[in-house]
Amino acid sequence: MSLVSPSLLSADFAHLASDIEMINRSEADMLHLDIMDGVFVPNISFGFPVIESFKDICTKPLDVHLMIVEPDKFIENFAKIGATYINVHYEACTHLHRTIQKIKATGAKAAVTLNPHTPVCLLEDIVSDVDMVLLMSVNPGYGGQKFIENTLSKTRQLRELIERKNASALIEIDGGVNLETGRKLVECGADILVAGNFVFKSQDPIETIKSLKSL
Ligand code: DX5
Ligand code: ZN
Repeated sequence: MSLVSPSLLSADFAHLASDIEMINRSEADMLHLDIMDGVFVPNISFGFPVIESFKDICTKPLDVHLMIVEPDKFIENFAKIGATYINVHYEACTHLHRTIQKIKATGAKAAVTLNPHTPVCLLEDIVSDVDMVLLMSVNPGYGGQKFIENTLSKTRQLRELIERKNASALIEIDGGVNLETGRKLVECGADILVAGNFVFKSQDPIETIKSLKSL
C-alpha cells in the first residue's frame, strides 16, 4: 500500500472545483501543488490567489512543492494558506538547515526535494531533520515527462540512508509515475507517489488513484 498525492498541475484549470471535488471523493492521501516561478524552473504555474480560491473546498492535506528561488520568503504564506507539507529544493537553499527549521516553526511538515542530478548522499546531515524527502524522477517544470530510471537506485539509496540514520522521513517520488514505474518505486522503498498526467488524463481518475494506492 502506497500513499498517493495527485498533482494538480495536470487538472483542468477551467474546471478546478470539479477536479478538487473528484480528489475529495477519491482515496488520494493528499493533493500535490506545484509552485513554479519561471526562474528556478523554465515554467510558471499558479500561486496564492488560485490556492486561496479552492483551499476551502479541498478536504485533503496540501503537499506543496516549491520550485522557486529563495523559498524562505514565502514559507509563512504557504503555512498560513494551509500547507501540510512544504517541500523546498536542495538546489535552491544555501542554508537548508535554517530553512527546514523555519518551516517547522510554522507548524508545517518540512520536506526537501532533490533534482535528478543531485545525489542522495548530500542528505546525510539533514535527513534526520525532515519529515519527507522528495526525489524528482523528471527534471522539474512540466507534467507528462518520461520517468528517469536512475530514480530507482536513488530510492534504494535513500531508503538505506533513512534506515541507517534511524530517521523517519517519508520518501516521495515525483514525475512520470504510472502503474509500472510506481510498482518498481514501491519495491525500492517509496512511500508516496505523486502522479499528474497518469491520474488526471485517465478515463477514470478515481479508479486510477485507487490502483496506484494498491501498489
Ligand atoms: C514537475 C512537477 C510534477 C508534475 C508531475 O515539475 O513537480 O509534480 O506535475 O507530473 P507527471 O506525473 O505528469 O509527470
Ligand atoms: Zn511536483
